[in-house]
Amino acid sequence: MQILIDGQYYDRASAKISVFDHGLLYGDGVFEGIRIYNGRVFELDAHINRLYESAHSIALQIPVPKEEMLRRTVETVRRNGLTDGYVRLVVTRGEGDLGLNPVKCPKASYFIIASTIQLYPEEAYTQGLKIITCSTRRNEHQTINGNIKSLNYLNNIMAALELRSAGVSEGLMLTTGGFVCECTADNFFMVKDGRLRTPDAATGALRGITRMVVIRLARQMGIEVDEGFYTLHDVYNADECFLTGTGAEVAPIVEVDLRPIGGGTPGPHHLETDRCLPGVRAGTGIRYARVRRLRRSDRGLQWQQITETETSSSMTPPSAMACSGKDSRCRWMRRPALPGDWPKWAYTSLRAVFQGPIRKMRSFSGAWPTSGWRAVRAWPHSG
Ligand SMILES: Cc1ncc(COP(=O)(O)O)c(C=O)c1O
Repeated sequence: MQILIDGQYYDRASAKISVFDHGLLYGDGVFEGIRIYNGRVFELDAHINRLYESAHSIALQIPVPKEEMLRRTVETVRRNGLTDGYVRLVVTRGEGDLGLNPVKCPKASYFIIASTIQLYPEEAYTQGLKIITCSTRRNEHQTINGNIKSLNYLNNIMAALELRSAGVSEGLMLTTGGFVCECTADNFFMVKDGRLRTPDAATGALRGITRMVVIRLARQMGIEVDEGFYTLHDVYNADECFLTGTGAEVAPIVEVDLRPIGGGTPGPHHLETDRCLPGVRAGTGIRYARVRRLRRSDRGLQWQQITETETSSSMTPPSAMACSGKDSRCRWMRRPALPGDWPKWAYTSLRAVFQGPIRKMRSFSGAWPTSGWRAVRAWPHSG
């Protein structure tokens, strides 16, 4: 394993940071956990942006510019020969003295570890998780803003300690006012009457990248999404619950505080979003295996991947699959050609989510799935 520390690679045994680093002494720093799927770093731009926003909030100057950090992340993944895995990016306040004062840390440090991760056993995904409500309340923005993804995770760890005594592997955290916030390191979703609900970020819930992707996917599928303030009553009476996170991915929840959710089995929306995610994973992110150089595109924050054989926007997500009204009964779903994404089965599961029958398929040109497609469907609300 090759670990990058401040621009230099070390093997695992010799990858070390100072005991005077304030990341260690005080949890003073920020981090990201990022998945690697199918030779691509998933939603890398979004993760890098969140890292720099977290750092900005705690007045931490990351020692390399964003573009360089992006390049080094990709390079570390490539060096470790991973096509599927997990990369951890950490920035610490750096070395200082034993006092708290961050001003005495002249230079921030960073390191990047590319490895693998599995948070829950396989049955959690097929049979669903039974969870409890933790008595530890989530940090609130008057104290430590939950959207700073800092190295200080003691709040979550205190909640996670409660899980052990209850014999479960996840738990819900509430705000001090009793609103549902998130799980110990994942975002929380409910389905009620066909609408997707997730706690608003103002509860202290992290604006998770997986959460963002699921919201995007749901909206593309015509599912309405609400970000709001919910109580345990809403959770117990949800038709379906699931959690999302980079480490956890998308996992169904079948029981909360001994109350079965829905039918007590994983619900259909979870299955569809989960099945669709691999298609999304394949289509977004930086395909590092073939990246030669990166440059900023004309469209501001987007990145382009330039390879020897192809030029495509690495961040063109399936959100490019724009919906536009055709008439009151039908909508056109269209996606542009993206190399190597959206395998056929992802389309099949999308079709199941559409609920209405797909009436016609048109505009197949060239080999699946690199060509564009259009499907006309009956819009379920339009009768
Ligand atoms: C507290 C917390 N909430 C939610 C999440 C899920 O966020 P993401 O999907 O960006 O991994 C994480 C994971 O990092 C987390 O630590």
